[in-house]
Amino acid sequence: MKILITGGAGFIGSNFVHYWLEKHPEDKITVLDKLTYAGNLENLEPVKDKISFIKVDICDEEAVEKAINGIDTIVHFAAESHVDRSITGPDEFIRTNILGTHVLLKAALKNGIKKFHHVSTDEVFGQIPLESNEQWTETSPYNPRSPYAASKAASDHLVRAYFTTYGLPITITNCSNNFGPYHFPEKFIPLAITNILEGKKIPLYKPGNQVRDWLHVKDHCRAIDLVLQGGKAGETYLVGSQHKEYTNLDVAKMICAFLGVSEDMMEFVGDRPGHDVKYAIDASKIKNELGWQPEFEFEQWLKATVDWYKQNQVWWKRIKSGEYQEYYQQQYSKK
Ligand SMILES: NC(=O)c1ccc[n+]([C@@H]2O[C@H](COP(=O)([O-])OP(=O)(O)OC[C@H]3O[C@@H](n4cnc5c(N)ncnc54)[C@H](O)[C@@H]3O)[C@@H](O)[C@H]2O)c1
Repeated sequence: MKILITGGAGFIGSNFVHYWLEKHPEDKITVLDKLTYAGNLENLEPVKDKISFIKVDICDEEAVEKAINGIDTIVHFAAESHVDRSITGPDEFIRTNILGTHVLLKAALKNGIKKFHHVSTDEVFGQIPLESNEQWTETSPYNPRSPYAASKAASDHLVRAYFTTYGLPITITNCSNNFGPYHFPEKFIPLAITNILEGKKIPLYKPGNQVRDWLHVKDHCRAIDLVLQGGKAGETYLVGSQHKEYTNLDVAKMICAFLGVSEDMMEFVGDRPGHDVKYAIDASKIKNELGWQPEFEFEQWLKATVDWYKQNQVWWKRIKSGEYQEYYQQQYSKK
């Protein structure tokens, strides 16, 4: 397989590159990434000699066309992904997540790509009331509530339209919140861990009762692998862990306990506008049709994630100081 991974220098994309090289070492991987603030080539440092990397914006039609030449499979992670940033500056979300996805789809169609897998989010479905036991399925109606979720919803519709209208062999996964290594420390779990390690408090959006369906990033990578191997063209698969429900307050308390600090290290901050209270996924379709099961139990792997951040302080300190952005210049200016 000759596989193009967009957004492969980000959190999930880089985990996917590591995963894929381990499982399918015979395949040729090209990572295409614009290296926005969220893209960090240091995530790919351990495997840099086994992949090709190109610094390209998915909105750049000419560069995307060139990159796709000789590729048979695209796994599309590249996106603006932080809800808070979409509230303060939605334009870049519309540009990358909608227009960028469209540029890729056009190029994929023109070049006869055999598989186009689009990575999306459960946030397209909106929110579930806290007291409800509802879980989303592949037929749940779309009801996005943030500019991020709306831009991902639009991209999902475009991807499906390219299947229906032009027969492009697409698949989509909508998954719940991921956690694990290489998670950019502006997101809740890595921010909480790294703040404590720096002696700072964990900022928690009031009232801390928001429920997320935390999925370990390796379980997500395996789900995408199964969809690429056995998924049906045109189909969507929802991926969620269905562990017991944890509020953000529960998660912050666990992180304090793992790091041996008092719960006084948590502080409430003003809530995010339109903050979704709860997400929950029914992953029966991918379980029944493709045999996927989440393997990474939340509390055990949250502890492992805390340990990873303890052991990789250089990695996240270079992000927090901004130094990681010099890495591309150092590595690639020589070439
Ligand atoms: N993180 C989660 O919990 C989660 C959950 C569900 C779905 N998703 C989806 O998974 C995908 C990856 O999420 P993530 O958390 O790894 O995101 P991330 O923000 O960590 O990484 C995004 C990557 O895309 C790159 N990128 C951004 N704009 C680009 C552009 N115009 N051209 C090329 N590259 C560009 C960035 O440089 C970065 O490397 C996204 O599509 C996101 O919507 C994420």
